[in-house]
Amino acid sequence: MNKNIVCIGAGYIGGPTMAVIAKMNPDRRVIVVDINKERIAAWNSKDFNLPIYEPGLVEIVKEVRGRNLFFSTDIKKAVRDCDIVFVGVNTPTKMFGKGAGRASDLQYWEATARNIKDWAKCPKVVVEKSTLPVRTAAAMDAILNSEVKVRGESERRMFTVLSNPEFLAEGTAIKDLLDPDRVLIGGPQDTPGQAAVQAVVDIYLGAAGNWVPRTRILTTNVWSAELTKLAANAFLAQRVSSINAIAGLCEATGADVDEVAQVIGADKRIGPKFLKAGPGFGGSCFKKDVLNLVYLCETFGLHTAAEYWMGVIKMNDHQQERIVSRLFKEMFNTLANKKIALFGFAFKADTGDTRETPAGTVARLLADEHVNLTITDPKALGNAKNDLRDLKGVVYEIDPYKAAKGADAVVLMTDWALYPTLDWAKIYATMRKPATVFDTRNCLDATNLRKLGFRVLNIGK
Ligand code: NAD
Ligand code: UDX
Repeated sequence: MNKNIVCIGAGYIGGPTMAVIAKMNPDRRVIVVDINKERIAAWNSKDFNLPIYEPGLVEIVKEVRGRNLFFSTDIKKAVRDCDIVFVGVNTPTKMFGKGAGRASDLQYWEATARNIKDWAKCPKVVVEKSTLPVRTAAAMDAILNSEVKVRGESERRMFTVLSNPEFLAEGTAIKDLLDPDRVLIGGPQDTPGQAAVQAVVDIYLGAAGNWVPRTRILTTNVWSAELTKLAANAFLAQRVSSINAIAGLCEATGADVDEVAQVIGADKRIGPKFLKAGPGFGGSCFKKDVLNLVYLCETFGLHTAAEYWMGVIKMNDHQQERIVSRLFKEMFNTLANKKIALFGFAFKADTGDTRETPAGTVARLLADEHVNLTITDPKALGNAKNDLRDLKGVVYEIDPYKAAKGADAVVLMTDWALYPTLDWAKIYATMRKPATVFDTRNCLDATNLRKLGFRVLNIGK
């Protein structure tokens, strides 16, 4: 097997993952390919103006690009020249036909499989990096191996399909890749299948054998690997919805959700992470993957399980509606023509990604109330403009002080480290009175804000 690796899909997953694989495997040539020419041009840009923002990413790309990491649109050549093909193309929620609004749209994935089949001249290991419904590997196996003559088990399979789902979180992608809790590789249990698994294990051990410790590289059958990815995201999303469900109760009873979360999380059986109440989860993964799990449950007749997971999504949607209703009530039951500044539009801090961001839903609900909306964000203004291009009159302002000038309320949507460090006395002085801050991330010093004269709203307090 040659040491070249190709990754099809140069997005949030393909780019950072392959940059770190190249860094830890200087003896391998890693090529990331995409049909999107602009994206590849950005990855190759002279001034390292990369298509995505991730702390630490640009430093690694500077180190490895041109050494053993390459970005290209020549997918055919890249596929021909390598023995291991990672596929990290997008698998969004399907918006048409059977399973619309729930199932994964697998058209990009299937197109890729057909291309690999048509272009490959020798056996290849095809690794699912995208998040996919359980048993996708069976469909891929059927497409890829459809024209291979059956002469014996080892010759039957020109392509071996593995599942190697990615667990990185945006904003901490490089840290998560360099030091993952676990790497999961699912493969067929027969001899060629296990040889393919070992080839991918070797990548994660790194050239010097000191990247991911072998004990953290978990190998399973393909179906367990595919399902684990969906289940892991569903468990994390469920924790966020659970604490947000408690937050509403805290507001009604005088309890404090941050205190409740701290004490719940001190139980070692539960643990402290993913218990932060807020505006609800966003990002390209949680909603899509939970909906996909719902669809799978329904497909297999597990209707009660489907309803259970659907509750996680319903709770999440409700959280953004609650934010706008509380603001409405606080601001004398009318928001029309009031100026509101949204602080943060990215779905979480340290990323410019705005896919499924709660700020987008809140912006639209506020626009329905005829609010004069200003949006500020240090990294996501370009995406915000694009997402809200159908909304007239929205102002986009990089400087938070200017964004808040003359506003009736600031609604903090993203927990950027910058926001607690701002001069809130200066902000108060320029706002219309009474001035309100709705801190949906509970990250500002509410006592200080009240001292300055602000009316303060929090989640779960
Ligand atoms: P993305 O949209 O940022 O990137 C996907 C890329 O694939 C795009 O650049 C697109 O042009 C390219 N592409 C589509 N069809 C192609 C084809 N036929 N040939 C070549 N390129 C093609 O998506 P992403 O966020 O990187 O997610 C990719 C997959 O990884 C999804 O299944 C997602 O669920 C999964 N995932 C994402 C994250 C994350 O943090 N974003 C984390 C874990 C898993
Ligand atoms: C998630 C998974 O964490 C990751 O393992 C998977 O590979 C992709 O999906 P990501 O969506 O990038 O990663 O970010 P994550 O940190 O999980 O946050 C998701 C959303 O939940 C964000 O909107 C975040 O603000 C929110 N969240 C997270 C909370 O509201 N409270 C929390 O306690 C944690």
